[in-house]
Amino acid sequence: MTDQDARIRQSWQTNADAWTRTVREQRIESRRLVTDAAILGAIDEGPARRVLDVGCGEGWLCRALAQRGSECVGVDASAPLIDSAQAAGGGRFEVMDYAVLIESGSRLGQFDVLVCNFALLDENIAPLLAALRERLDRGGRLLIQTVHPWTACGDEPYVDGWRLETFAAFGAEFSAPMPWFFRTLESWLALLSATGWQLRQLREPRHPHTGQPCSLLLELQSRVS
Ligand SMILES: C[S@@+](CC[C@H](N)C(=O)[O-])C[C@H]1O[C@@H](n2cnc3c(N)ncnc32)[C@H](O)[C@@H]1O
Repeated sequence: MTDQDARIRQSWQTNADAWTRTVREQRIESRRLVTDAAILGAIDEGPARRVLDVGCGEGWLCRALAQRGSECVGVDASAPLIDSAQAAGGGRFEVMDYAVLIESGSRLGQFDVLVCNFALLDENIAPLLAALRERLDRGGRLLIQTVHPWTACGDEPYVDGWRLETFAAFGAEFSAPMPWFFRTLESWLALLSATGWQLRQLREPRHPHTGQPCSLLLELQSRVS
């Protein structure tokens, strides 16, 4: 585990309760107005009998999908977030680091949708992306929603690199800043292609008032080798 990976995971341990409250009280405007509906809408566009929510956090997406009839499995490295998810129900939730998902994810079975909703934060995610192909049923889809590179770039140079999320915009409850790895659009697409994924659709869900993109939403299928 790299130092940055350890800090990411520490942050989601320390900030777990604050994050759970923030999500459940719908305090993040972009989620409330745009990105929650965007990921649910994308999932709804095809079969979603079994869904794996990778980095599920406190489990909101699994709960929403369970109400629509999907069977959901949520995995996350943060034990307190998984505790919150289990307490609220809506699926099967397991504490599982991505390294364990890569090694022994086969015991979770196969899925027709894999979702990573704002959950790919580390630099070295290629092994995870490659391993996820094995979790997918034939014809299944991988959906990745992440920060929009041009919006998230801010005033910094438009190049891949580590950034720091202080959560200042979410109030004082978050005590552990989180490093996260910024990727350009070109870098995202190259990484996905190199790990065996073919782009089916690229969406840029936009804020209804400002018109700015709130996220990058990628729909992928496993490339036939
Ligand atoms: C921004 S939160 C998103 C949570 C959820 N997907 C949502 O939409 O609310 C990122 C999540 O990724 C998880 N995560 C980050 N790195 C991880 C890793 N290496 N293994 C497992 N989970 C990880 C964190 O614990 C956290 O719950």
